[in-house]
Amino acid sequence: MESCIRRIENDIENITKITATPQMGCTRFSYSKEDKQVREYLLKELEGLRLKIKIDGVGNIRAKYVDGNEDKPSIMFGSHIDTVANGGKFDGLTGVISALEVMRVIKENNLSLKNPVELIIFAEEEGSNFGITMLGSKVLTGKYGLEDLKKIENDEGISSYEIMRNFGLDVENIGNDVLKKDEVKAMIELHVEQGGILDSEKIPIGIVKAIAGMKTYKVSLKGVSNHAGSTPMDLRNDPMVGASEIVTYLEKVAKEKGLPSTVATVGKIHCQPNMPNVISGEVDFYVDIRDVEADGVETVVKELEKKTEEIVLKRGLKAQIELVGESDSVRLSTKVIEAIEKSALEKGFEYKIMNSGAVHDSAMLTELTEVGMIFVPSINGRSHCPEELTDLQDIKLGCDLLLNTVIRLANE
Ligand code: GLV
Ligand code: MN
Ligand code: MN
Repeated sequence: MESCIRRIENDIENITKITATPQMGCTRFSYSKEDKQVREYLLKELEGLRLKIKIDGVGNIRAKYVDGNEDKPSIMFGSHIDTVANGGKFDGLTGVISALEVMRVIKENNLSLKNPVELIIFAEEEGSNFGITMLGSKVLTGKYGLEDLKKIENDEGISSYEIMRNFGLDVENIGNDVLKKDEVKAMIELHVEQGGILDSEKIPIGIVKAIAGMKTYKVSLKGVSNHAGSTPMDLRNDPMVGASEIVTYLEKVAKEKGLPSTVATVGKIHCQPNMPNVISGEVDFYVDIRDVEADGVETVVKELEKKTEEIVLKRGLKAQIELVGESDSVRLSTKVIEAIEKSALEKGFEYKIMNSGAVHDSAMLTELTEVGMIFVPSINGRSHCPEELTDLQDIKLGCDLLLNTVIRLANE
């Protein structure tokens, strides 16, 4: 049984046309008007397949095919539809479209499966609105509740609760939407690699064995805002220079004190008043630290704290370090890895067992069920940018592998 490359291509084309930044990559934040349009497109497709559809309070879409087997747990598969700002066409969407195609093939062939199969589209994976990655799957797995959503705010100070409610979601009810252990037998997510290993080694399939953990901090440095011309260099308390010292140090520390797999990034920074002729009064920046080994993350965290303290003293600043989001690194299920491997061998697909440096919603489900992930190559290893690209033929291979693995797990 095979997926249909034309349908996959058509879906990707139709959906990626919907972006808030035409000609500048895909920008499709959860709860935006673009998100609404894409949801309408996908819901129409899912309704056409006559699936049992449920949209939970945070906006995750679940579409289940039950066929006399409703008392059994589901094989879940899917990914996310939101993007970063000016992101690519393939992050998240590849897994959603492949999942849709798998469901189409299963339905068209009237497959009778022992376990139900369920497609899942996660909301707010990227953290684009609130700086917290995987919010949809964190709520689905009970890691965040209603009170948390009332506190989590976007840059304009609007709560996630408010934004979800205004999007028409039944957010008050999220407690009832939490996924239970007995609802799900396995979860498989297909995703683009977002790094260059598969592309450079010319291997079409990655089977993920571990997903990196991450911690995201917001660092706020307060200094003294003043005139850029009349304030002598030795009479300044400039938080911008303090921030630049910390940012530079983080690169050094991740490289020299972290493990080979440790990475640290400052990708978002804001200063006030943000004028060329004014010494900043305040600088806020986000530090994203990741590793598949928890020790790597902790080393950088300690160094961040130590360095910030040192800079505060040296430059007469005030600092606040706030942990805004975190997820542990996880090992994926040997059982699902083996099922994917068996399917790949059966189909004659070359594959590589590898780690994921990016985080993924399925990592949130590892406490509940057996989780596996399939990677397809990212050309030149580019991701989270408009240049993100994956060959359609590779998506088809990944989709065929997903289909075969879902059927294998649903019938064992
Ligand atoms: C999500 O794509 C992440 O890894 O930040
Ligand atoms: Mn993703
Ligand atoms: Mn992403």
